[in-house]
Amino acid sequence: MTQDFSQLDRNGRLRHLITLDGLDPGLIRELLDRAQGYLCLPGQLPPRGGDLRGWTIANLFAEPSTRTRASFELAALRLGADSLNLDVMLSSRVKGESILDTIYTLQAMQVDVFVIRDAEPGILELVARHVDDHVCVISGGEAHISHPTQGLLDALTIQQSKGGFRDLVVAIVGDIRHSRVARSAYRALTALGVAELRIIAPEEMMPDTGEFTGAIRCRSIDAGIEGADVVMMLRIQRERIAGSATTDLRHYHEQYGLTAARLARADASAVVMHPGPMNRGVEISSEVADGPQSVIRRQVSNGVAIRMAVLAHVAEARGRRMP
Ligand code: CP
Repeated sequence: MTQDFSQLDRNGRLRHLITLDGLDPGLIRELLDRAQGYLCLPGQLPPRGGDLRGWTIANLFAEPSTRTRASFELAALRLGADSLNLDVMLSSRVKGESILDTIYTLQAMQVDVFVIRDAEPGILELVARHVDDHVCVISGGEAHISHPTQGLLDALTIQQSKGGFRDLVVAIVGDIRHSRVARSAYRALTALGVAELRIIAPEEMMPDTGEFTGAIRCRSIDAGIEGADVVMMLRIQRERIAGSATTDLRHYHEQYGLTAARLARADASAVVMHPGPMNRGVEISSEVADGPQSVIRRQVSNGVAIRMAVLAHVAEARGRRMP
C-alpha cells in the first residue's frame, strides 16, 4: 500500500483488508478469536449464524481459485448475506471495460463488499480509493504481494495445533519468491511473535534480502526443517515464472519435496501445512499430505471461519450488530 492510504477507519477498525502489513497484533488476535468462535469443534465447518441480511458480497476473481472463492461465498451465505460470483474472464472486462467501471456498475446494484483477486499489483488499493464510503474491499489475493485471509487462516491453524506462537519454529519451504501466501504468513507470524521463522528455497525461488527480515534463510530442506514445529509447503508458482515449463519437477521433488523420511527430521509433533492447490509428487508426497501430521484440510475449514470473521468485522465497523 502507498503511505497516504490506510485500510483502517478513524476508530482503528478495518475499513478494507488489503494486507496484514502493519496490522496491530491485537486486531489480528481479535480476528482469530472471532473465527475460532464460529467453529463448533476444531476442524468442523462453522454453523450458520450472524446477520448480514441485506448485504451483498461480490467475488471478483481474475485468477483461478477454489478455496478462497468458495470459502468467501460460504462465509457470506453463513452470515446471511447475498453472494455474487463474477467470473472476470467472462465479464465485460474482456470487452475493454476498466476495473473501476466494473466496480461502479456493481456498486449501482448495491454491492457492499468486493472480494478481489488480481494478478496486477496495486489494483486492490486503486479500487479501495474509488469505492463509495460504505463499501469495503477485501483481498482474495494480490499478485505475489499479499493474501491476508490466507495468512490469518494459517495463523489460526497454527494456534489450534500448537496453542500459541512464542516458542515455535516455523519453516516455510518452496517458491517463496513468488508467493503471496508466504508473505502474508510471514506478516501474521511475525506480528504474533513466533520464535523462529525459516525460509527454505533454491536460489531462484528465494526472495530478495530486503524482504522477510529476521527470517533464517536455508538452501537445504533437510537442514531447514530440522526440529521445526510447523512445516509449511508451497507449490511452484509457475504462472509467475517465465520459462517455468522447463523446470525439472522430478529433480525439484528430490531436492525440496517433503517426504515422510524428510519429515522425520522435524519435531516429532510437527504439523504439515499447505495452502493448496497441491502438486502431489512435486513439493509434497501423498503419504505426507494425507498423513497424521497433516493439517491441510483443517486449514481449508478454518478458511471459512476466518472469512466470516473478516466480513463480520467490517460489517460491525459500519454499525451492524454481529455475534
Ligand atoms: N490457498 C488458495 O488461495 O487457494 P485457491 O487458489 O484455491 O483459492
